[in-house]
Amino acid sequence: MCGIVGAIAERNVVPILLEGLRRLEYRGYDSAGVALLDGQGNLQRTRRIGKVKELADALQDNPIKGVTGIAHTRWATHGGVTEANAHPHFSSERIAVVHNGIIENYESLRTDLTTKGYGFTSDTDTETIAHQVHFELDNCDDLLTAVQNAVKKFHGAYGTVILDKNDPDRVIVARSGSPLVIGLGLGENFIASDQMALFPVTRRFMFLEEGDVAEITRTSIKVFDSAGLPVEREVKESNLEHDAGDKAGYRHYMLKEIHEQPTVIRNTLSGRLQDNGISANIFGHGADELLAKIKHVQIIACGTSYHSGMTARYWLEQYANVSCNVEIASEFRYRKSYVHPNSLIVTISQSGETADTLAALRLAKEQGYAASLTICNVPGSSLVRESDLAFMTLAGAEIGVASTKAFTTQLTGFLMLTMALGKHNNMSQDDHQHIIKALHSLPAKLEETLQLTDGIKALAEEFADMHHSLFLGRGDQYPIAMEGALKLKEISYIHAEAYASGELKHGPLALIDDEMPVIVVAPNNELLEKLKSNVEEVRARGGIMYVFADKEANFKSDETMRVINVPHCESAIAPIVYTLPLQLLSYYVAVIKGTDVDQPRNLAKSVTVE
Ligand code: G6P
Repeated sequence: MCGIVGAIAERNVVPILLEGLRRLEYRGYDSAGVALLDGQGNLQRTRRIGKVKELADALQDNPIKGVTGIAHTRWATHGGVTEANAHPHFSSERIAVVHNGIIENYESLRTDLTTKGYGFTSDTDTETIAHQVHFELDNCDDLLTAVQNAVKKFHGAYGTVILDKNDPDRVIVARSGSPLVIGLGLGENFIASDQMALFPVTRRFMFLEEGDVAEITRTSIKVFDSAGLPVEREVKESNLEHDAGDKAGYRHYMLKEIHEQPTVIRNTLSGRLQDNGISANIFGHGADELLAKIKHVQIIACGTSYHSGMTARYWLEQYANVSCNVEIASEFRYRKSYVHPNSLIVTISQSGETADTLAALRLAKEQGYAASLTICNVPGSSLVRESDLAFMTLAGAEIGVASTKAFTTQLTGFLMLTMALGKHNNMSQDDHQHIIKALHSLPAKLEETLQLTDGIKALAEEFADMHHSLFLGRGDQYPIAMEGALKLKEISYIHAEAYASGELKHGPLALIDDEMPVIVVAPNNELLEKLKSNVEEVRARGGIMYVFADKEANFKSDETMRVINVPHCESAIAPIVYTLPLQLLSYYVAVIKGTDVDQPRNLAKSVTVE
């Protein structure tokens, strides 16, 4: 949530900061800004409401330059979308600050700082950082010490970068609860909230840990832990292959990412799925011993990742014979829950930094779970670092705010986890062989499914004028219906609800009329006949049906029903296969409606605030 880029160099850093912001824009796009120190000790700032392009245009019209700079793209939390609330924030034209996260006690800090004579020009929590650092600086006369003293006063989450006009040869950064990475250059150094922002300038990164404060000059990096003691943090060479800054000829990142799914799932399976199964060490060192004692799984996640957990529950109980609960992280973290004996806590996250999921994991670790596992797409992220075991999805960087390939690779990981747990819980040989066969066939099946694009494009035309829609599924397709509804609402702004179709007659049937499209996911499984009855209930009430069905399910198109035949597949992978047409449908509806597909209104990709 929000993006940060910083640089300290001997050259003009404006192009580096702007390119970094463009790469981080998916994290927030309400406003953008930059503050620069030039070689003569001048501090200048430009901020604009809207996207990074607005800022870039402003800088082109009125260029400013600097050798040290900080920049930010904002997803508004405290204070509306105004230029005054855009980062960087200043204290007396001397201290400049960019910040991700939320300073929860900002109101009391603000009252205190106002009493001390600091004037506020924004409604943000971030401005308290600038003034608090300034206050501390007046007392100790050293920027590093000032930041170390200031952060002790903050409750909440921050990843922050601070400049002092009177101390132009260093920047200070601090991290607690919001990620920050330092990029190492030659005679220049960089900072960002996500390494991807810095790929054009470096591949060498130092990841800060919770509570770290660091002093960065052009030629040195000194890191101090939360106790103020000097610490070494490892420098890692990033081997992320994807330079996701590129749309590879697709009109949107989302479409590119939908089409990448066969490849990234192949990558996720590669070297992990053998002819006769998987080895448990794909979940980390010592995984087999830890998983051997597991009898219950508690899954926590948010958004699309939560839907993958919902799907996994069906697999874990059906095939692996372990009981499973799934809960939204923001609920889990604020209630007292029962911990079953021999429970595994599983977090799922594309980013590995979602604030609620991380907080839920930390809580769970205090509650006596036997082990923790994360299914995550970002190596080195907080969830990966703080879990006992990790399964890395190899989706590559996902830029479209609406998650696609991260979701299907998570599901792929869950099928492998099902086998790993099933091995210790009397999973049948038939089920074991079925999942292996299904996973081997998955990439090709997805390629085949993507061929449905033209039919789905035509279907999308019929949706563009609709205001509401209903998605129906049963069994392990119910969470897929939920994910389909989420995709449609996220990017086309059409109200969409999902129901387990057996629930129709308990309320939603009242909504059915000829202005309510009903989307059904109907693989040919043991629930097909039940689903068909639910479809007839809708038809009898004048609803218009859009059915994604296995050919052998024998649905026929007519004036009240459009049928799209999805390639027949093994039942274990049907939730993954049926996800793709729903992604494509949302995508093409959004394109027809002309919405901002990759950066839908009010959303952000990485939600690092509560
Ligand atoms: C945001 C994103 C969603 C994502 C959710 C959870 O809402 O827009 O696409 O599913 O966060 O994020 P995570 O990184 O934990 O999977």
